[in-house]
Amino acid sequence: MKLILLGPPGAGKGTQAKRLQERYGIVQISTGDMLRAEVAAGSDIGREAKAVMEAGKLVSDDILVRMLASRVDRPDCAKGFILDGFPRTVPQAEALDGMLASRNLQLDAVVELKVDDAALTDRIAGRYTCAACGAGYHDSFQLPRTQGVCDSCGGTRFTRRADDNRETVGARLAAYHEQTAPILPHYAKQERLYAIDGMADIDDVTVALVALLDSLPR
Ligand code: AP5
Ligand code: MG
Ligand code: ZN
Repeated sequence: MKLILLGPPGAGKGTQAKRLQERYGIVQISTGDMLRAEVAAGSDIGREAKAVMEAGKLVSDDILVRMLASRVDRPDCAKGFILDGFPRTVPQAEALDGMLASRNLQLDAVVELKVDDAALTDRIAGRYTCAACGAGYHDSFQLPRTQGVCDSCGGTRFTRRADDNRETVGARLAAYHEQTAPILPHYAKQERLYAIDGMADIDDVTVALVALLDSLPR
């Protein structure tokens, strides 16, 4: 299965992609996570991306398209993948069309997680992640079973993203509305576009996603 999860910052793309990858045996490809790994490694790409990401703007199409093309060719993608954070501009969507066509691959669905802007700031400002395994949490909406201990790995160190603050959220939302939302008609034309209510509780969103994906012809 090959999917795109689309939605504004804080919509729940990463949260749901982690659940879907387990259920369907496919891999989550988060371009945000890949870029943060480049920044942490201090690579050329990371040096270029750091300030752009911290300002809430989009990193260049050129870098992202090359990064994604090499990622989908890795053997762990053979059973399928969930794109989380890519494509984010019309040129990226067009590049992806070409990439898939040249590999004889087809998308099964493009799913938009619909969430009101007003809810996103609180989601982003309260988000944190296990430093050891990357499991995601939230100060109010997704607490670990034991406070300060990761449910998945028992880790006790957590991190917060440099771009997760109330000041940067506005720029990230503007980038979504101006540069990313215009790709929705691109996929509507291909009759691949579905929408899910991302305002529901995390578990209910998963149920709706699974119902949708299980209903697709395969
Ligand atoms: P990226 O890492 O992709 O960030 P984003 O799109 O801003 O999205 P987020 O990761 O913030 O949100 P999410 O939808 O994954 O939400 P999550 O599940 O964590 O990109 C970061 C930056 O990298 C970009 O700004 C850009 O600079 C660059 N970049 C990346 N890809 C690029 C590309 N293709 N082109 C150019 N630049 C690129 O959920 C958020 C929180 O809410 C969590 O705490 C969670 O617990 C909670 N939550 C989730 N669902 C619910 C729910 N239903 N109810 C209540 N709480 C919920
Ligand atoms: Mg994410
Ligand atoms: Zn963990």
